[in-house]
Amino acid sequence: MLSLLRIRKSIGFRLFWYDTVTSTNDVLKDMAVKGEAEGAVVIADCQTAGRGRLNRPWISPRGQGLYFSILLRPPLSANIIDFLPIVAAVAVANTIKGVCKVEPQIKWPNDILLSGRKVGGILCETKRRAAALFAVVGIGVNIEMISDEFPVDLRNRSIALNTVSQIKVDKLSLLQAILRELNRVYPLAMQQRQKIIDRWLHFCSHLNKEVVIKQKDIRHTGIFRGITTNGAALIELPTSELVTLASGEFSMEEHIPCF
Ligand code: BTN
Repeated sequence: MLSLLRIRKSIGFRLFWYDTVTSTNDVLKDMAVKGEAEGAVVIADCQTAGRGRLNRPWISPRGQGLYFSILLRPPLSANIIDFLPIVAAVAVANTIKGVCKVEPQIKWPNDILLSGRKVGGILCETKRRAAALFAVVGIGVNIEMISDEFPVDLRNRSIALNTVSQIKVDKLSLLQAILRELNRVYPLAMQQRQKIIDRWLHFCSHLNKEVVIKQKDIRHTGIFRGITTNGAALIELPTSELVTLASGEFSMEEHIPCF
């Protein structure tokens, strides 16, 4: 067990670094069930079964990305679980902007984009038991990308940090910077949630734009109007009705009109 941040109880105080795992989320979920403390971090050099939202795979080759998960045990009364993907997205986007001096964007709920392509993703998984609950927040960032390792369709939609940024980062510095930022924004999300929402909207790639919301085979078109304090998307339908959509169930694309 390593320790990156000195303050006891901070995110990253306990760090478990593996060579290869199936998924850092799975490893940390097992540890959480056995009682691991809040703030523990599991990182791996590569994942053999990395996962993304909506059961999509997260290709995790050695030497090309940062793959890690953090364990949070927020009080139930904080009502923050559904908002965690937003918190994590803001922390990652703030870090990339601050460290690499580039302008990331966020696609709802928590895809991190650079030049319109995906550079990072976040998978939040939660478990509730009686009065207690925990969340495992898994974060993946493409740092170097040798595109041959990615399926062709992903290659055109993904990008690596070091191909865009003049300032090259290594995995450890990026991890440290994201953990520092998470330690700053996580308490803010409990007390001043609007600040996080404003920052998320600042990074949002599709605010007030037409989007297509997909749930299995059903597609709806609407205008993306923002997010709620629970991290749900606020979509204005063509009927002018405003609906909220929770992130677990939907994927979203910007609508490109056909002429
Ligand atoms: C997404 O964009 O759909 C989310 C991707 C999340 C990937 C990270 S990598 C570390 C952690 N372990 C996983 O299996 N997934 C997350």
